[in-house]
Amino acid sequence: MPDPRHLLGLQDLPAATLRDTLARVHACDQHPPAPDTLRGHVVANLFFEDSTRTRTSFSVAAQRLGASVVDLLGGQSSVNKGETLIDTARNVEAMGVSALVVRAKQSGAAALIARHVHTPVINAGDGRHEHPTQGLLDVYTLAKHFNRTDGFDLKGLTVAIVGDIASSRVARSNIAALRTLNAKVVCVGPPGLAPAGLATLGAKVVSHIDEAIKNADAVMMLRIQFERHGEAKAGVGAGGSDLPKQTSIASVREYREFYGLSPERAASLKPEAIIMHPGPINRGIELDAAVADGPRSVIMPQVSHGVTVRMAVLKHAILGD
Ligand code: NCD
Repeated sequence: MPDPRHLLGLQDLPAATLRDTLARVHACDQHPPAPDTLRGHVVANLFFEDSTRTRTSFSVAAQRLGASVVDLLGGQSSVNKGETLIDTARNVEAMGVSALVVRAKQSGAAALIARHVHTPVINAGDGRHEHPTQGLLDVYTLAKHFNRTDGFDLKGLTVAIVGDIASSRVARSNIAALRTLNAKVVCVGPPGLAPAGLATLGAKVVSHIDEAIKNADAVMMLRIQFERHGEAKAGVGAGGSDLPKQTSIASVREYREFYGLSPERAASLKPEAIIMHPGPINRGIELDAAVADGPRSVIMPQVSHGVTVRMAVLKHAILGD
């Protein structure tokens, strides 16, 4: 029986647990907890991989609840000197922290650490595996937008996920949560990045973006995660030439043509459809600026809900309520 204080992923979460978690998020959204809720507690961010919004969001959430935050970042920690993830986590635990927020490039890293500590562990992204707080903030954003916060049933809603799904822990957590809450999920991307095997997760895989988005109530755009292909590219911009070979697409310009959400393509969406992106956005590749900043975009509400989700998750992990 997994320790319920940990949040390691959404794939094995029973529907009732997922709904309870979302109900706690909604309660935090409606009635923000007192600013001294976690006074005296220390939350440790163990980030062995880069992050901008996720780490900041956890820090803001912890501080809003009155906890203090320590950051242990990959490049500056002893992990570079060969200390294992487990040793690092156990040392930080021994200093008396109340929660460990873990991001690492290895799939399963947070679960591995959780098996070796007594402190609650929250997965902030492990390789290509899961990013549960991102999945929660995405389904919360959807549920709130479509007035489904009463019971969190997403039946009748279709979510299209577009792009580099194979590398995306965000997509995996989202597909799990969306299917558990009865939404339909349609995936599309270059064959190597949106493989037919995604059907085993309960998603429908189609080959053309227009087919994926035409009936969608929400379109979730993902960036090409070059660094997870083992072919890191610095500063990729529109007009760059080579893409990872598994994309079977020759250039970012061609990628935009086939899989990007341009204003013209966005105009074919249902009138009430919304556009989501977990960030970071490669503007001009998967998403044009006019669409990212346009009236259908809920990208900023996603970011705001990220703090609410992390407040609810930290409070539950540390206080059990
Ligand atoms: C994502 C991540 O790191 O998995 N970003 C995020 O946490 N908001 C998505 C990505 O890296 O593209």
